[in-house]
Amino acid sequence: MNILVFGRDGQLGQALQKQFQSVLFQKGNNILFVGRSECDLGYPSQITNLLEGFKPQLLINAAAYTAVDQAEKEPELAFAINAGAPEVMAVYAAHYGATLLHFSTDYVFDGSKQGAYTESDKISPLGVYGKSKEAGEHAIAKAFKTATEKSGQFAIFRTSWVYGDGRNFIRTILRLAKERSMLRVINDQYGVPTSAAWLAEVVCYLALNTNQLREFHSGIYHAVPRGETSWHALACLAVQAALDDGQELQASLATIAPIPASEYPMAAPRPMNSRLSTTRLQIELERLGLVSKLPHWNTPWDEQVVSYVKHLSKN
Ligand SMILES: NC(=O)c1ccc[n+]([C@@H]2O[C@H](COP(=O)([O-])OP(=O)(O)OC[C@H]3O[C@@H](n4cnc5c(N)ncnc54)[C@H](OP(=O)(O)O)[C@@H]3O)[C@@H](O)[C@H]2O)c1
Repeated sequence: MNILVFGRDGQLGQALQKQFQSVLFQKGNNILFVGRSECDLGYPSQITNLLEGFKPQLLINAAAYTAVDQAEKEPELAFAINAGAPEVMAVYAAHYGATLLHFSTDYVFDGSKQGAYTESDKISPLGVYGKSKEAGEHAIAKAFKTATEKSGQFAIFRTSWVYGDGRNFIRTILRLAKERSMLRVINDQYGVPTSAAWLAEVVCYLALNTNQLREFHSGIYHAVPRGETSWHALACLAVQAALDDGQELQASLATIAPIPASEYPMAAPRPMNSRLSTTRLQIELERLGLVSKLPHWNTPWDEQVVSYVKHLSKN
């Protein structure tokens, strides 16, 4: 099967590369990873040419415009990458009967709900990035709904607080904790840190049985590990894990001050509550007999963060 992955160099793209190196998905698949230099998603013709040439049966879009604050200044570019490009991919997939896996965000919600958001909760993004990801979700659903020829299948995975090989909150905290003793971290925004490796594993299992596509229910799935936390508690856990690992830091748990988000203004507003319910994905994985096969589906977020911090110090 021909598999095309956009976003080769991002956190999720790199995790997908590792996932596809496993023997589970190697045999019988012809996998192409593309980065910006091979296909700039700001140019729809580049995407179309690639799709028409390679003819993938499975498309995974791990690329996105993810500069949340910068997006406030360049909304056209954010919408082109986060909505225009996925639309081109979806039109192709729906037309040729291919499968599209795409990723969205907790930022499509305004964060005002008490408790975890479900896939059917009303979305109401606060900033340009969230609005552009919302537009991407709509464009994909519409392309599959209006397809007149062979209709493929799609999954949009809404995830949150992603960390992997790349710039992310945990790495920033660990760097700052080495440079200074005092840190101030927001303690009234809640969500779930998601390992890119965990996410890559989940979506590959959902979509593929070695070199066969699985038939899953098309739609939106919330995809985050078990549990929830605040940015402050996440920072404390990362610092503690680094200290337990023998790393030399200037900061300690006692010097990480909790602050309200109102004391840390940013260009783009963020949802105060980013908790995502994963019940729909759990049900779909159970229906496909995958829950017991997925190595890390039930590993809670905090165990994954501790492993990640240890892994960082060895690389
Ligand atoms: N990071 C998070 O905390 C978070 C939270 C919720 C949801 N998500 C979603 O999860 C998915 C994966 O995120 P991530 O953390 O892996 O993102 P990331 O590390 O920022 O990677 C995004 C990738 O997209 C590529 N890209 C951006 N503009 C492009 C363009 N014009 N043409 C081609 N490629 C382009 C970037 O290329 P370059 O390497 O060349 O810049 C980068 O490799 C995205 O859909 C994101 O919206 C992320």
